[in-house]
Amino acid sequence: MWRSLTSIIRPCVESSAAPEQQRDILKSVSKTFYIETFGCQMNAHDSEKVIGTLEHEGYLRVEDEAEAGLILYNTCSIRDKAEQKVFHRLNEYKRMQGEGKKFAVIGCVAQQEGTRIFDKAPYVSLVSGSASYRNLPQMLARLEAGENRITGLDDRQTDETFETEFVARTNPHRGYITIIEGCDKFCAYCVVPYTRGKERSRAANSVIDEAIRIADQGFTEIQLLGQNVNSYNDPSAKMTFAELLAAVGSVPGIKRVRFTTSHPRDFTKDIVDAIDAVPTLCDHVHLPVQSGSTAVLKAMNREYTRDWYLERISWIKAAKRDISMTSDIIVGFPGETEQDLEDTATLLEEVGYDQVFAFKYSPRPNTPAVTLADSIPDEVKVARLQVILERQRAIQKASYQRHLGEVMEVMVEGHNHQRGQVTGRSSQNKTVNFTVTDPILPATGSYRTVKITQTFPNSLVGEAVRVN
Ligand code: SAH
Ligand code: SF4
Ligand code: F3S
Repeated sequence: MWRSLTSIIRPCVESSAAPEQQRDILKSVSKTFYIETFGCQMNAHDSEKVIGTLEHEGYLRVEDEAEAGLILYNTCSIRDKAEQKVFHRLNEYKRMQGEGKKFAVIGCVAQQEGTRIFDKAPYVSLVSGSASYRNLPQMLARLEAGENRITGLDDRQTDETFETEFVARTNPHRGYITIIEGCDKFCAYCVVPYTRGKERSRAANSVIDEAIRIADQGFTEIQLLGQNVNSYNDPSAKMTFAELLAAVGSVPGIKRVRFTTSHPRDFTKDIVDAIDAVPTLCDHVHLPVQSGSTAVLKAMNREYTRDWYLERISWIKAAKRDISMTSDIIVGFPGETEQDLEDTATLLEEVGYDQVFAFKYSPRPNTPAVTLADSIPDEVKVARLQVILERQRAIQKASYQRHLGEVMEVMVEGHNHQRGQVTGRSSQNKTVNFTVTDPILPATGSYRTVKITQTFPNSLVGEAVRVN
């Protein structure tokens, strides 16, 4: 273990540092951590902030859990018996407890299960939900002092957000910025209001300052995050969400601004107007509908009808730009009939989504729907999921053809040497694989103009073209 750690720190230790400085470096390096992250983009970005905080507190991140003094597990609870999987993984940690390691369980399952985690896995020392992360430095100090059963579980009613300048950004080109945390919507099937707490927004000037900071660091793409990003409610009352989008899109150096996830209830027409007016705002809206049946939407407590949703879609379709639309669907919600499913399938066709993430309903602890009988057998859910995926595939096969011959800007994400292609993403967030004639491949993070020569249901193929 020590050998590989010294190889990580050798550049510092072999410097001209005085012996006592060298000792300090070694001492600080003995605080090593390993982190595993599951869940949505918000959780992934939380981990970037947790890593930044740990590094600021003198910890060194290692890529091998065997080398870590502290193992953090950032968990997700959204579906599929998530807590059982977490406890299973914690059981695997058990065999490492004799090595003097410490364990922390954070994120949505941590908040949901709370101190039950200590009861089932007594070798875990820290359990914290995301609403308590701003207290991490104090929790870490207690951990280092040898305390056990440290919790960060009582902050779900807070108005504070987790703002930190210490963010270990893992994607070198796309910078994530959380603008709103928590959720007050309480959809019947969903754990998020219980795991992430009350909805709370960051002040617009703080968001813009972070955007400027990361643009200065060389990021050209920003993604604004929130469970319901467009429910943003500036506590300084200066800006609407659409105005904030426009402001972030005007930060010098920023070429692309994305935002996810939008909730239909709070989707206002000025968001479409902002996309039309500000070229840096990407032409993509992820607006999960969940079901095309008004009866199911009511049972889900989504607080909109099929027609109300479709009205928002008509605004997006009336835009000057071709705005790509994507969605999430839940099939097999208790009481869903074959006709309800058909209503969802026809809604997919009416909207013409470019991508749909479809899930089988899974009952979740604490949610109102858990008291309903999970009435749709799993094999029926599987069959319904299949129907939705097949109908959606046919939609995409046809709709991606609209890009044939189109010339678009692509941000390079990587290279497929086997196929001799460069891979990247369009403003609509579509995967574009393209060839270049230059012997030198374009760098990741750079932009190329590409003419589309072939289309598939999930990707586009093209060739780089010169622009004058
Ligand atoms: N705030 C967003 C979605 C966040 S959760 C919204 O309201 O649209 C991400 C997705 O997980 C949801 O859109 C939903 O499709 C899915 N999901 C959430 N809870 C679920 C459950 N209990 N079973 C199946 N899918 C679920
Ligand atoms: Fe969950 Fe509904 Fe909140 Fe989305 S809006 S996070 S689905 S409760
Ligand atoms: Fe999962 Fe929590 Fe995100 S439940 S989807 S990590 S908000």
